[in-house]
Amino acid sequence: MGETHLATITLRAKGLSITTPEYKDVYFNYYWLRDNCPTSFHPEIQERTFDICQLQQAPCAQQAEVIDDKLVINWANEDHTSEFDFAWLLAWQAQPGREDAAALPRKHWFGDYYPKLFRATQADLENTLENRLNWIQAMLEHGIAIITGMRDNDQSITDLANLIGHVRPSVEGYYFDVKAKAKAEAYSLSFTAAALEMHTDTPAEENAPGIQFLHCRANDTTGGDNLFLDGAAVAEDFRKSNPKGFDILSGVSVPFYYDHTNFDWRSRQRVIETDHQGNVTGLTVSQHMADLFDLPQQQLDDYYPAFVEFMQLLRNERYLMRFRLNAGECVVFDNHRIIHGRDAYAANSGSRHLRGCYTDRGELRSRYRTLYKQLVS
Ligand code: OGA
Ligand code: ZN
Repeated sequence: MGETHLATITLRAKGLSITTPEYKDVYFNYYWLRDNCPTSFHPEIQERTFDICQLQQAPCAQQAEVIDDKLVINWANEDHTSEFDFAWLLAWQAQPGREDAAALPRKHWFGDYYPKLFRATQADLENTLENRLNWIQAMLEHGIAIITGMRDNDQSITDLANLIGHVRPSVEGYYFDVKAKAKAEAYSLSFTAAALEMHTDTPAEENAPGIQFLHCRANDTTGGDNLFLDGAAVAEDFRKSNPKGFDILSGVSVPFYYDHTNFDWRSRQRVIETDHQGNVTGLTVSQHMADLFDLPQQQLDDYYPAFVEFMQLLRNERYLMRFRLNAGECVVFDNHRIIHGRDAYAANSGSRHLRGCYTDRGELRSRYRTLYKQLVS
């Protein structure tokens, strides 16, 4: 690390700058340095045990120098020295943030995707961790997969979901059964034989369900094909064709509701959901659960045209993947990114039963990282 001896450290009012033959004036804030001193973390558990809010004065370096491969800082107003791995600091400034194996770029897909869908049997996933890793990778990249050879019992879907996380409850509890029910029991269109327009499930929940599992137990009715599309692909196209409309739909939240005798769910969601870097992560789409838009009427002059244009684009056939889910198959998909629906079916022409449940998106990524560490890195 001879090179580090050539480093010049300049102390400034609120931070310090490092200049080396390779880097010029790389700045670090004193609060950040003090907060992230290696001694701030429990040596085994790795959680932060230092509390920066307990400092009586703003942290400020009295002296800082590079010794061997360490940046050593003596703090003013405190009897404390911090030693940072110098190469780590410089690497951080080039690319701040923890390395994340789960941060895989989304691969957009279109209406012809059905033959290319990731497929594995339930047994494949139960028996081999590599298969599980590949499944989750497909979920992160494409947002959807089909699991075949599902055991034909109620527990089967929970067993599958548990391979990637805990089942999380929703309006219906820990699972739901989609079938045409008697009139008195059918409080949602799901429980009729009617068509379901393209939607994401229960956006009226504050944290709408993350990953959705639909295990087809029976499907021999006439009609009832399943419809899926990649909402991120549509939204990215919309960003190009109508950037102003994109900003409105990704910036302004609108109300959703789901109100029946025993519950009254309400939330606000953005139709286009983006992450902190502005990437599209999903959509919130539900004609049935969209509440009366309560934006100022003048704002609606801009909101509605953008909304309608986007929803029309969403109906463009080029995005729509249509197929029949067969008994023994389970479709697993990101309930925010992948928009789904179904054709109407003739209720008396046979039986149709899908059993569903949800897990979290965050837990999916967590499982991917741990499997990746175990199998790849
Ligand atoms: C639902 C739903 C799909 C289907 O109930 O929300 O999307 O194929 N069902 O019945
Ligand atoms: Zn649905």
